[in-house]
Amino acid sequence: MKSLVAFYFSGTGNTRYIAERILRNVSAEYTAKLYDVTSDPDVDALSSADVVLLAFPIYGSAPPIPMREFVHRCGSRLKGKKVAIAETQYFFSGDGAASIGRTVEKYGGTVILAEHFNMPNNLADCRIFAIRNGGELGTLLNRAEKRADAFARRLLCSKTRRRGFGVLSHAVGYFCQRKYWRKGEKEKRGRLKVDPVRCVGCGACEKRCPVHNLKLEGGKAVPLGKCVLCYRCVNLCPRRAITLIGNEPPEKQYRGIP
Ligand SMILES: Cc1cc2nc3c(=O)[nH]c(=O)nc-3n(C[C@H](O)[C@H](O)[C@H](O)COP(=O)(O)O)c2cc1C
Ligand code: SF4
Ligand code: SF4
Repeated sequence: MKSLVAFYFSGTGNTRYIAERILRNVSAEYTAKLYDVTSDPDVDALSSADVVLLAFPIYGSAPPIPMREFVHRCGSRLKGKKVAIAETQYFFSGDGAASIGRTVEKYGGTVILAEHFNMPNNLADCRIFAIRNGGELGTLLNRAEKRADAFARRLLCSKTRRRGFGVLSHAVGYFCQRKYWRKGEKEKRGRLKVDPVRCVGCGACEKRCPVHNLKLEGGKAVPLGKCVLCYRCVNLCPRRAITLIGNEPPEKQYRGIP
């Protein structure tokens, strides 16, 4: 049996869902382990891995901060490794998978597979794109699942596909989104707000924030200034008390894959 080690970041579950599906589909030929990069992942597992899978959602055509930090932290361990990349997005990133793939290759890894998976939107307080749940997901999830199955088949047959690595994709990803996103990233991280009137101090956000950015003080949740923009708390707060990029409380929250 060959060995596959997967490291993922997932704010609202889409990426985890895709990573788990890929792992299930390769289980006949690979012993596979899955680690959340924010939960003390076993980086030593990299040394014996035949293939490394990196999975993450895209934010403004850029990988999320925890995935960027993870790749830099483990850079030297990626040297000589075959790396597969699964990036989830609502509809567009240009070169989302390649945006981390290029870093992997700078460290000496080889990207053998890179794919984008269109998944449900989770930007609940930005009212430009609809939030859909359950039965409303329609064919979107079905298409993403088929793509995950094809990704796993390619992995099993050692077939290469490098979505997002072309010059045009790079230019589109960078000039249409990433350049501006990365410039404003710090400011966006500071925008996380908890409405103290709505907050009832249930503690759900404190418990679930992947980077421990929310703390209950005096019965209210308070942000600590290290938000990584994952939107988990915005979508789970039972009082819709949390906003991030948008200023209005979400009309509808994303519940994740049923
Ligand atoms: C801060 C933020 C920025 C996003 N930017 C993009 C984007 O540029 N393009 C896109 O198609 N989807 C974008 N999305 C949607 C997510 O990438 C998508 O819903 C993803 O599947 C969420 O994965 P997760 O559930 O694993 O966190 C963004 C979501 C967030 C929270
Ligand atoms: S989940 Fe909402 S109501 Fe509960 S503590 Fe956090 S902000 Fe307050
Ligand atoms: S504060 Fe909310 S949006 Fe920010 S990292 Fe934590 S759960 Fe994610």
